[in-house]
Amino acid sequence: MKNIKVGIIGGTNGMGKWFARLLRKEGYTIHVCGRKTKLQINDLARLCNVIVVSVPISATATIIKEVGPLLTKDQLLMDLTSLKKEPVKLMLANTQAEVIGCHPLFGPQLKDVSKQNVILCPARGKKWLGWLKSVLKKNKMSISETTPDRHDKMMAIVQVLNHLNTITLGMALAETKIPLTEMNKYSTPFFRIKLDIIKKVFTESPEMYLDIIMGNPETEIVLDLYQKAMIDIHRKIKFGSRAKSQETVLKTARKLYRKDQ
Ligand SMILES: NC(=O)c1ccc[n+]([C@@H]2O[C@H](COP(=O)([O-])OP(=O)(O)OC[C@H]3O[C@@H](n4cnc5c(N)ncnc54)[C@H](OP(=O)(O)O)[C@@H]3O)[C@@H](O)[C@H]2O)c1
Repeated sequence: MKNIKVGIIGGTNGMGKWFARLLRKEGYTIHVCGRKTKLQINDLARLCNVIVVSVPISATATIIKEVGPLLTKDQLLMDLTSLKKEPVKLMLANTQAEVIGCHPLFGPQLKDVSKQNVILCPARGKKWLGWLKSVLKKNKMSISETTPDRHDKMMAIVQVLNHLNTITLGMALAETKIPLTEMNKYSTPFFRIKLDIIKKVFTESPEMYLDIIMGNPETEIVLDLYQKAMIDIHRKIKFGSRAKSQETVLKTARKLYRKDQ
């Protein structure tokens, strides 16, 4: 199996670069391409058994449509996209190769990936699934297999709701017009953690977070849920109903931490 050659489209940076490093460490031959590399998509398709798509979400559909038809039944087409429904559907429609959707639930900066979650959506063929799982397992990652639909539903909570919350907190903080240096002087450990998360979302790759929010098919449902919760607690606090605010918090705690869960 060590003579497997893997081509990573978008392997010059971010998650693609992380995956290239991991696979090189395991002894595989890796070719990467970006928009300006000498090797291009057609070279990778010709040279490699496995093709990985790891480009920004906004470019993913175009890249899948370009590379998919160049592959044969013996090859594997997989992706690392943070969304799964649309990319997996497009991979199935545009190639005869085996298809696996893969989403590592961490960023490329993370030093130790052991115990970190990776979601796999096997979509066509079984030949390559064992290989991919063995590489991830060898590096102690925790693998769950599911459908693209279920993946996107869960990401609507883990990513969409979560990042929406960070974005609205950042927007509200900016509106206070109090400089961050001043906020830091008054910060608690808990608030400093939140400020770090806000900084990451607003400065590291805001486009990716917006693509994750706007590209998820469940986003509208989550937006409504979030707005409903905001209106609910806003009303109870604004009209000074301590009993009702407390009842909301206790009821939520009971729902979240029920013993039978
Ligand atoms: N970052 C995360 O935390 C994270 C976590 C899990 C999954 N993901 C997923 O991983 C994928 C890549 O995200 P990333 O954060 O790694 O992005 P990134 O750091 O911006 O890297 C994107 C890569 O794609 C290449 N690229 C950009 N535009 C391209 C285009 N139009 N055509 C071909 N190649 C292009 C870039 O190469 P050049 O600039 O050299 O052209 C670069 O190598 C996304 O689908 C994202 O949802 C990201």
